[in-house]
Amino acid sequence: METQITFILNEETIKAKVNPAKALLDFLRKEKKMTGPKEVCKEGDCGACAVLIGELKNGTVHYKSVASCIYPMGNVEGKHVVTIEGLTDKELNFIQYHFAKEEAAQCGFCTPGYISSLTSYFLKNSEYKEETAIAAISGNICRCTGYASIKRAVVNMVNDVKQSPPTVKEKLDFLVEKKIVPEYFKEIPQRLGMIASKKRQDLNSGLPIGGGSDLLVQAPEKLKEKDLSFFAKTDKGYVEEREDEIVLSGETTFEEFGESSIIRKYFSNIDETLKLIASPLIRDVATIAGNIVNASPIGDFTIILLALGSRIVLQNKNNETRNVLLRDFYKGYKNLDISKDEILTEIIFPKPAGNFAFNFEKVSKRTHLDIASVNSAIAIYTNGETIENIGLSAGGVAPVPKYLPETVNYLEGKEINDETISEASEIAQSEVTPISDVRGSAEYKKALLGRLVEAHFLKLFPHLLKAEVLL
Ligand SMILES: Cc1cc2nc3c(=O)[nH]c(=O)nc-3n(C[C@H](O)[C@H](O)[C@H](O)COP(=O)(O)OP(=O)(O)OC[C@H]3O[C@@H](n4cnc5c(N)ncnc54)[C@H](O)[C@@H]3O)c2cc1C
Ligand code: FES
Ligand code: FES
Repeated sequence: METQITFILNEETIKAKVNPAKALLDFLRKEKKMTGPKEVCKEGDCGACAVLIGELKNGTVHYKSVASCIYPMGNVEGKHVVTIEGLTDKELNFIQYHFAKEEAAQCGFCTPGYISSLTSYFLKNSEYKEETAIAAISGNICRCTGYASIKRAVVNMVNDVKQSPPTVKEKLDFLVEKKIVPEYFKEIPQRLGMIASKKRQDLNSGLPIGGGSDLLVQAPEKLKEKDLSFFAKTDKGYVEEREDEIVLSGETTFEEFGESSIIRKYFSNIDETLKLIASPLIRDVATIAGNIVNASPIGDFTIILLALGSRIVLQNKNNETRNVLLRDFYKGYKNLDISKDEILTEIIFPKPAGNFAFNFEKVSKRTHLDIASVNSAIAIYTNGETIENIGLSAGGVAPVPKYLPETVNYLEGKEINDETISEASEIAQSEVTPISDVRGSAEYKKALLGRLVEAHFLKLFPHLLKAEVLL
């Protein structure tokens, strides 16, 4: 099931007949013999295969660094793909120079991935700081050099280039002048404009695929036999305020959610939350619809959206839509209220107002870049010390992402104090049915959920509670 895909690879326009489920990394290494991006984990975990993807939006090319080992060729259509071969000429570029100066590469296997993620960082931002630059490479793993020299190289870079001009053209000129990107980047917007208008596939013509960050990990070979519907396209991701609701398109990526000024207005702790969810390499491609429909009992965004009281909009081939409350969407393990000809187009939740607070907790074997043993989210409205309205959810404690109705019923109208929260913690544990697996025993997960319920309240209302009584 091959299809023609047109895109720009470094400086060259490519028209290739390929299976759209093929991983970009395989195309680059096996068909184009471009061996700069490396294959290691092939699951999006290590960043050795990272390449830049540029998408044209309103005349500007927006770049991100992605794990090409799980990036489907179908999503490459109309985009600019940049490998390490396209970032450097005869001389070392700015980022490579700093890596070499600090001896931040030993075997060099991971280095092209680091260069890709840091190039994306310089292209995306206008102010460069140690903390944000280090966060940008949090999805890249080095097995031999050790991180001290990589960190030194990064610190030197951001000391050398502290900021770039805010306007698009001046910024690109500046990055070219600094040898962060090559000169040909200046022609890419116009060149992409000429190929990006190609008609997309019909919405519901096959198995929907968003970023592919679940599908290409789960069964990459079987996927090649399927008819796929690539509809997550550049102009589709949006976050909007509509009267008293917030509306996200299904194609909104985790990163777009966190970057949205609307989300940042209502969720002051969104950066802390996002740090617990995947790496930038994944967050930039993983869609919210994909998280919901993948139906993992520990899907982080699903847990967040459950607590926020979300409903989802499903659209069929005839463009008919229906709304389903997210908490009613899951009928059993991977058994969903969605038919084969429906796609998830929007997610809608009430706009926070008044005394609103939100918190997300995730416990995993390591703090970052790991799957949760148990996760939980709370969205709460209070009047003084009284709970007026609350949404509470938990993952990893049932066959489905779980809303906690009994705990919610108990808490509504109650005063926040040690006794109430201790009781809520007990009720939460009684309404879940975890199983023992590699992420912990059933007893451990129940106890963990109890602690997470307490942690929500301790974090949001520390002045009303005594940690030593609760924990
Ligand atoms: C290294 C790595 C780390 C990860 N870390 C996390 C993490 O910390 N937290 C977390 O929650 N997840 C994590 N994930 C899982 C994954 O990234 C998310 O579940 C993501 O939201 C999937 O979105 P996608 O667009 O890539 O889905 P895809 O793989 O494209 O699709 C997933 C499923 O959703 C369906 N689908 C997609 N879009 C639609 C639609 N609009 N309508 C109907 N069906 C649709 C597909 O048919 C498929 O069944 C991680 C994955 C990787 C590889
Ligand atoms: S090979 Fe490890 S992220 Fe792609
Ligand atoms: S330099 Fe060898 S893995 Fe990083």
